[in-house]
Formats: sequence, structure tokens, C-alpha cells
Amino acid sequence: MVSYKDLGLVNTRDMFAKAVKGGYAIPAYNFNNMEQLQAIIMACVETKSPVILQVSKGARDYANMNILRNMARGATEYAHELGYDIPVVLHLDHGDSFETCKECIDNGFSSVMIDGSALPYDENVAVTKKVVDYAHKFDVTVEGELGVLAGVEDDVVAEKSHYTRPEEVIDFVSKTGVDSLAISIGTSHGAYKFTPEQCTRNSEGILVPPPLRFDILKEIEKKLPGFPIVLHGSSSVPQNFVKMINEHGGKLKDSVGIPEEQLREAAKSAVCKINIDSDGRLAMTGTIRRVLDEKPEAFDPRVYLKEARAALKEMYKHKNIDVLGSAGKA
Ligand code: G3H
Ligand code: 13P
Ligand code: ZN
Repeated sequence: MVSYKDLGLVNTRDMFAKAVKGGYAIPAYNFNNMEQLQAIIMACVETKSPVILQVSKGARDYANMNILRNMARGATEYAHELGYDIPVVLHLDHGDSFETCKECIDNGFSSVMIDGSALPYDENVAVTKKVVDYAHKFDVTVEGELGVLAGVEDDVVAEKSHYTRPEEVIDFVSKTGVDSLAISIGTSHGAYKFTPEQCTRNSEGILVPPPLRFDILKEIEKKLPGFPIVLHGSSSVPQNFVKMINEHGGKLKDSVGIPEEQLREAAKSAVCKINIDSDGRLAMTGTIRRVLDEKPEAFDPRVYLKEARAALKEMYKHKNIDVLGSAGKA
């Protein structure tokens, strides 16, 4: 058994209480490799933001859980070396079973998500409660989910979203004892969220997707005052990186993400954790493609990874400062 407390990590409890009260959201950035992790830590130290480092099942398969856990420990030491001890959470993203969550809790994670959102309601309650009962013995916090997001998440593809039903949230939270609740109000996973056909154009000619269902969020907040709410699928699909990828040999289809203003509005509410993965992938791939195109003689990975890391860092800083409002809150 490895306790997250010995790795310099914290759980989400205090972080979320402060974020809900302060009207901002904690960034939850996925990482799979060293350059992503360095960029996240540099950005969060420079903006003095708390941070949640997320590890998906795909990340565990790609990089190995023990390596990722030790990278998270290294991240806290790196933050210290950079001159500012930000609170760092190591979180399992989309845990698919009690066993997966237990393995992470036993191996130094300070927070886990049990994603029973695709299960029948009673089964979701049962598995979530089982995870909470185990996690709380070790002061590990748990995120549950009600409602289904469209898009690709690990190996699961959901064609259609099902919005969270506000009438279920009180029962779910009281029966399971979860510390936070992920909800479905119109965000979706992956880089292909909305096609241009699903959008309208504003006066500046910019494509605007259908707005998030703030009415559902408000109803949920009314039923669970001050309870921490989580938004998955919150990448904004920055068009500069999509363009960069396609200008340098890539073939991405047109797609529109969640507008930053809507995320900013959500962050001011009880939404206190906002998950962003795809935007990091786009920034990294775009930059690597550009550098390799501009420097065809380059074969040292550090040449292009260094630039990718710098682009990622700038993007995360922008999110902390201008979108989530988490800058200065560490
Ligand atoms: O919600 C899913 C995350 O973006 C993780 O994706 O399983 O490909 O690492 P992944
Ligand atoms: P995006 O695909 O919008 O980045 O969402 C990531 C996510 O929800 C991770 O759990
Ligand atoms: Zn997700």
C-alpha cells in the first residue's frame, strides 16, 4: 500500500470547497508523458494554480501506473524546485470498476472517479458506494457520474448524450456518499464535439455551438447547494492548432469545441473541476508537425518536444488565467 500523503499529494476536498466558494474551477489536465506533465506543472506554478493530474485507463496502458505515480511525486518536487508548492491531486479518470479504483487507491492516487454512468441507475449507485466506502478509509476522494456524455472516452463510444436528470442527484449523492458529481449538460469527449452544421454563426462570423444546458446545472445546484460539480469533455478545440495540424500534413475534420466563455460561466457556479485532454493533444501534435516540417533535418526528439512543451505550457496558462479562474488560488 502506497499512501498519496507520502508522495506529497492532496485529495480534492479542501480544493473543491474553496473553488465552489470562490467561483472558479480547478484544472483537471490529463497526462501520459513527461513533457505534458512538465508543461502542466510549469503553467500551474507560474500562475499559482492548484491542479488535478488525471490518468486515464489509456494512460495506464500506455505509460504504466507505477511510472505515472512516481512522475506525480516528481511533479510535486519539481513545483517546489520551481519555487511554489501548489496543491497537486493524482486522479484516476473514468475508473471502470471497483477493482481498478482499488488498485489506484492502493498505489498512491489521492482521488478516483468511478464512472458507472452507462450502468442502470441502481448498479451505478451500488458500485459507486462500494468505491466510496473503500476510498474513504484512506481519505481518498471519489467522483461519481450521472448522465452520459457523447464522444469517445477510453474504448467506449457514446453516439448520443443523455443529460443528467436533476431529480436523481440528491438520491445518488446521499446513497453513495460521493465527494463530487460529474454531470452531462452538453459537453462531449474528444476533438470532434460539434460539426459546423450543428453550429450557428455570430456577428463576427465565428461558429457557435448549441449552448450548454445551464438550466439543468442551475436545477442541480438548487438541489445540492454548494456540492462540487464536475464537467468532463471541456476542450475548446483551439482552431489555431487544428489549422497548424492541417497545414503541416494532418487531416483533421472541421470541428468546434466548447466556447471558453461558457466554461468561464460554468466555473463561476458550483462547477469546480473542468476536464481538459483533447486540447493538449491538439497543441502538442500541431507544434510537433510544424517543427518537423520547418526543420526537416531534425532528428533529436528534444528539438520538437521542447517546442511542443512550450506551446502546451502557454495554453494551460491561458486556461488557468482566462477560462477557469484558478490562477492565484494556490
Ligand atoms: O475522457 C477521456 C480522456 O480524454 C482520456 O482519453 O483514454 O485516450 O487517454 P484516453
Ligand atoms: P476532452 O476530450 O474535451 O478534452 O475531455 C477530457 C475529459 O473529459 C477527460 O475525462
Ligand atoms: Zn471525461
